[in-house]
Amino acid sequence: MMNASPPDLPSSDTRPGDRTLALFIQAVEDYAIFMLDPTGHVASWNAGAQQIKGYAPDDIIGRHFSVFYTPDDLAARKPQDELDRAARDGRVEDEGWRVRKDGSRFWANVVITAVRDAQGTLVGFAKVTRDLTERLRVAELERSRALAARAHIAREDEQRRMARELHDDLGQQLVALKMDVGVLHKDLMAADTNPRAMLRTERVLSMIDTIIGSVRRIASDLRPPLLDDLGLAAAIEWLANDFEQRHAITVTARVNLGAIEMNGPAASSLFRIVQEALNNVVRHAGATRVTVDLDTGDRALALRIADNGVGAQLGAERDPASFGLLGMGERVHLLGGAIAFDSTPGHGFRISISVPIDAVAARD
Ligand SMILES: Nc1ncnc2c1ncn2[C@@H]1O[C@H](COP(=O)(O)OP(=O)(O)OP(=O)(O)O)[C@@H](O)[C@H]1O
Ligand SMILES: [Mg+2]
Repeated sequence: MMNASPPDLPSSDTRPGDRTLALFIQAVEDYAIFMLDPTGHVASWNAGAQQIKGYAPDDIIGRHFSVFYTPDDLAARKPQDELDRAARDGRVEDEGWRVRKDGSRFWANVVITAVRDAQGTLVGFAKVTRDLTERLRVAELERSRALAARAHIAREDEQRRMARELHDDLGQQLVALKMDVGVLHKDLMAADTNPRAMLRTERVLSMIDTIIGSVRRIASDLRPPLLDDLGLAAAIEWLANDFEQRHAITVTARVNLGAIEMNGPAASSLFRIVQEALNNVVRHAGATRVTVDLDTGDRALALRIADNGVGAQLGAERDPASFGLLGMGERVHLLGGAIAFDSTPGHGFRISISVPIDAVAARD
């Protein structure tokens, strides 16, 4: 249905082609295409304009085009500003909310082009408006989907982090406790003088096992406190001494941090890795010697932990409840580094890690 008058074309000698073009513009429904006079009053109106903005030609022709703008834009004098810019630059493009006849809003892409006659006198403006509300809705939907995905990843990261902390902190202490009680139990068995105490320690051992099981399920948020006070080199040294004293293992730690100052999360990660590796040596290796080497080069930090114990069959089916080696891999991955395990049964176990310096150095 075409109930609007054809747009006033600036040319006086209307050719047949111009007439066709005018009818074509008139019929377009997907774009609001209309003319404004030099002062911004609506001079023509097409089917698309009616569809998008809701005004019939009789309602709008002769009225100022500022009725399409929101109160905020009116307060900012946006309609006049856009006409001024179009007159000055030839063309202005804008995207924003516009108002329909019924007061509802739509997200519009607007292009205003200044129209001049052969002498260069401004005769009006051609205005093309597209309704992008649907596109905006889709874009917003996509954005909220991306946000939801990011939140999901963040939540997973957080859960992993909590699980790791739980395993590395409380878990390690419980392992140490269990070993001490185990020694006590053995002593009592050897003395064989206090069967009640022996039974008690057996119960304590099984309780510790239960707690270790619980700890694996419950999340908590802890950081190695001694790292904050001492720094990584001293913390690793302390750890090595502690292991040597507790267990019949010679621990040799060589830590060379060079001139770099390390950032907190990286130091914490490396400390946890060494701690888990030493715990594994005690629990699985039956080793007499273990070395920890941390060396800092120009571009990478290298960490190697090697023992002379029974070793393990690599690539064998992993216990799904085992978290240690997996957690190490994750920490290294987060630092953008690489980790390798190397072992053959009877010939010890070696862990080699390389991390880019940029990932461990403190940022200022
Ligand atoms: N130094 C080692 N010597 C021999 N075997 C090892 C050594 N370190 C790890 N392993 C083997 O690799 C397995 C996986 O180790 P991982 O640290 O992932 O799990 P876990 O120590 O068994 O349990 P968790 O660390 O979750 O308490 C161990 O069960 C053990 O068989
Ligand atoms: Mg382990």
